[in-house]
Amino acid sequence: MEIISDIKAMQNRCLAARDSGQTISFVPTMGFLHEGHLSLLREGRKRGDLLVLSIFVNPTQFGQGEDLDLYPRDFERDEAMARECGVDLLFYPEAEAIYPPGYATYVAVEGPLTTTLEGVCRPTHFRGVTTVVTKLFTIVMPHIALFGRKDFQQLAVITRMTTDLNLPVEIVGMPIIREQDGLAMSSRNVYLSKDVRQQALVLNSTLRQAAEMAQNGESDVEKILTMAGSRLANEADLKIDYVKICNAQSLEEVDTINHESVMLLAVSVGKTRLIDNGNLIS
Ligand code: PAJ
Repeated sequence: MEIISDIKAMQNRCLAARDSGQTISFVPTMGFLHEGHLSLLREGRKRGDLLVLSIFVNPTQFGQGEDLDLYPRDFERDEAMARECGVDLLFYPEAEAIYPPGYATYVAVEGPLTTTLEGVCRPTHFRGVTTVVTKLFTIVMPHIALFGRKDFQQLAVITRMTTDLNLPVEIVGMPIIREQDGLAMSSRNVYLSKDVRQQALVLNSTLRQAAEMAQNGESDVEKILTMAGSRLANEADLKIDYVKICNAQSLEEVDTINHESVMLLAVSVGKTRLIDNGNLIS
């Protein structure tokens, strides 16, 4: 595995791979890798000849007062896990290389896809994500890029951007990987105390109960949201940010459940936000 920090060197290496007919698969991350990230890498390994992983804690997607400085980091551990998954190139740039002095260009998806759900609490978040993902795409020049459905809205925003800008990259969405007890894996789970982590299990159990109601024929969104709201409100340390049922493509809220309905939840515990989602009818 090669570790490259320099942007030009990375572009040259990826251009050479493309020229020699290799298919590049790419997994962008902010590091502190867990099984969720590794599932993307394993799929990328199957789909491409050259597997590229980026680790970059992207400052532009963190808002004022968010956890940029606290974001967990462990490069040595990540490096070992990346090797284990068969990563060929690990791109590990400095923030100053991605955003040098005078940097002034941003890519933003406009409208409800970025202003609803996460966009309400984090108004500049997706602009940071789409900007860095565009830059990473122009540096790595992948044929395929893999993203987790854990960040459902992020995947929808990146898919929209890729279509709108005619970027020659296939975006692949991958299933949510969970801990044995059902908590969706996240680099931020290390922030949770034992007690709060136990309370956080309500996210997955609420999604499961909602899906059960829907599979048993409940199509009234209001009824499912009432159940979800009261379950989440039962946990003393969790503050509900949103509980919504939306169309999986447009992310617009719906009144009636159908095969395209997804339930999206976000709660916060102090400065830590936890998100989760699931289809209601599979
Ligand atoms: P990060 O949170 O490190 O996540 C990197 C990728 O791993 C994302 O596509 C995310 O959806 C996926 N992922 C995280 N937890 C997962 C889980 N439990 N199951 C499946 N996939 C999971 O998302 C980002 O970084 C950044 O916003 C990034 C796209 C890298 C841009 O900076």
